[in-house]
Amino acid sequence: MRYFIGNWKMFGIPKSINILKKINSFYSKDKNRRKYRVIITPPYTLLETYSKYFKKKKISIGSQNCYHKDYFSSNTSAVSPYMIREAGATYTLVGHSDNRIEGDTNEMLKNKVDFALRNNLKVVYCIGENKTDKKNKKTFSVLQKQISKVLDKKFNKKNIIVAYEPVWSIGTGKLPTKNELTITTLHIKKVLKGIFKKKSLPVLYGGSVDGNNIEMFREIKEIDGFLIGGASKSSKKFIDIIKNYYR
Ligand code: 13P
Repeated sequence: MRYFIGNWKMFGIPKSINILKKINSFYSKDKNRRKYRVIITPPYTLLETYSKYFKKKKISIGSQNCYHKDYFSSNTSAVSPYMIREAGATYTLVGHSDNRIEGDTNEMLKNKVDFALRNNLKVVYCIGENKTDKKNKKTFSVLQKQISKVLDKKFNKKNIIVAYEPVWSIGTGKLPTKNELTITTLHIKKVLKGIFKKKSLPVLYGGSVDGNNIEMFREIKEIDGFLIGGASKSSKKFIDIIKNYYR
């Protein structure tokens, strides 16, 4: 199974659902549709309406983040996994670098993953080294830490996907080489296997993915899918990624 996840970040208003309707219509008729899943993470403001609309359709809806504890609390602006699930969403991202930069610690992220899973959300756990880590050849140790400090062997591995997003690649057009990405993905899978035994979890790549460079990524069979930012805000660009992946 492959995954194409569109992370809208701070983009979208109610009528932006038209973008998703076009993606859904392509997806429902695509001859390859059984080989992959499409998940979109719009902002909190759109979770309920979009989740309701796509409930019986192909696209799944997820949130971009969640609070790390409590069903309800007095924390201004926080949204709990319980509230997200009740709004109808079925996935959540956890640990996106935007949120790590804002102060999400590994301890908080562990609680987020745990709490989201316990509220029946599937978790897309994001990891990735920054530019300095890469320059100092710390990529492997940073990733190892981000995984082992957060993902616990007691978690239900069937509901966890890992997304590798090198921070220096997000929104920059800069990509890892094919070789770099292959060995990094294999390293991530090895670390995950050490925790969960047996088969590894799906590992996605994110960072400047578009309809042109997907040609390079599809040759790396270790990658189970993609977390797509900028190109997910246009139905054409998002569909082109899927079309070119299966060409
Ligand atoms: P871009 O595809 O815009 O580089 O964003 C990647 C990302 O951060 C998805 O979560």
